[in-house]
Amino acid sequence: MGLETLTTIRLTPLQIGIIAAVGVAGLIGWLTIPKALKFDPRGTIDLSGKVVLITGGSAGIGKVNVRQFAELGAKVYVIARNRDKTERVIEEIKARTGNKNIFFINGDLDKLETISAAAKEFLAKESKLHILVCNAGSGGRNKNWTSNGFEVLFGQNYLAHFLLTIRLLDCLKTTANSLKNTPGAVRIVNVSSAISARGASLIDFTSLVQKNNDPNDIEPFFTTDFSSYGRSKLCQVLSTIKLSQVLKDSGISAYSLHPGVVASDIWNIALDRVGIQAAFIFTLKSFVMITEEQGSLTTLYCSVSKNVANQSGLYYSKCTVRENKNKAIKNQAQIDELWEKSMEWIKNY
Ligand SMILES: NC(=O)c1ccc[n+]([C@@H]2O[C@H](COP(=O)([O-])OP(=O)(O)OC[C@H]3O[C@@H](n4cnc5c(N)ncnc54)[C@H](OP(=O)(O)O)[C@@H]3O)[C@@H](O)[C@H]2O)c1
Repeated sequence: MGLETLTTIRLTPLQIGIIAAVGVAGLIGWLTIPKALKFDPRGTIDLSGKVVLITGGSAGIGKVNVRQFAELGAKVYVIARNRDKTERVIEEIKARTGNKNIFFINGDLDKLETISAAAKEFLAKESKLHILVCNAGSGGRNKNWTSNGFEVLFGQNYLAHFLLTIRLLDCLKTTANSLKNTPGAVRIVNVSSAISARGASLIDFTSLVQKNNDPNDIEPFFTTDFSSYGRSKLCQVLSTIKLSQVLKDSGISAYSLHPGVVASDIWNIALDRVGIQAAFIFTLKSFVMITEEQGSLTTLYCSVSKNVANQSGLYYSKCTVRENKNKAIKNQAQIDELWEKSMEWIKNY
């Protein structure tokens, strides 16, 4: 939705009051919150000879991360669903960084078969993988189920990345082995969200798989969208914990993180909906959210910083370990169940 549509929205005095309050709060926040989250490994970290695979490098914070990895000298593979858009981004980054080793691999998180094909394509080209970044993601739903019949945000944000990680696990292990299983020599970075901490701690596994031919009705934003988004992001945090357990002493470290509230295209699904929600998000995006450049830093930090090499299974925000307050992170039985069910769900792809 463009500005033109926004200006035609009729707002009640209460709605105008809320927006004004957010605007003022945003302005104060913008003026007072230090924007200076800094992590710049250029000159201290060299990724020459290292291979990075990232999902969702075509836009947002993932696009910034592709550039950062390229600047550090890595060979970078980008899994994305839109070839033309992604190849344009890759050409732009090649020109800017001088690094010609950036490659597109097709993969749509909505279709698990394309993700396993992407893993196969990568493995046909490379025998080593040093950094896997599961970054791609969607924040809202325009349908209920993925094309494979999983709840759409669970399927796209979490299960597709779980499949990718499992299919690449042997390659990651071989790479870690060749580096004498040094802690943090190989890393899996899951871009989650702070919303993972706020939702329900118990996962209703039966709601994740399509049973009949459910109609693809669209449910209201801020209700179903937010709870299913939060659950998909919680699952990323829980699988990071499980990966750290399964991969203990392997030299592979796993990290989950909140990038910050970032003014990226992920909010477009809310802006596309007319009314108070759109106006609210528009205000936040304009005044409160951090830039994609700032939002990229915690992912970069978890991917390359020596400070976290000895850590695994933890959750980060603003380049710092944080406690994820969702009780689910202490529920080992559920963590195990999520892992086992996910293994079952991906086995045919
Ligand atoms: N922005 C925030 O405030 C925020 C806060 C917390 C967490 N996060 C997380 O940060 C990550 C990056 O988000 P962002 O803010 O950079 O959003 P963005 O600008 O919308 O970028 C999302 C990326 O994911 C890709 N993607 C989406 N659906 C896909 C699919 N079905 N298959 C393959 N790729 C797909 C997009 O590809 P296309 O270019 O083809 O659309 C794009 O490259 C996400 O996991 C998000 O949940 C963001």
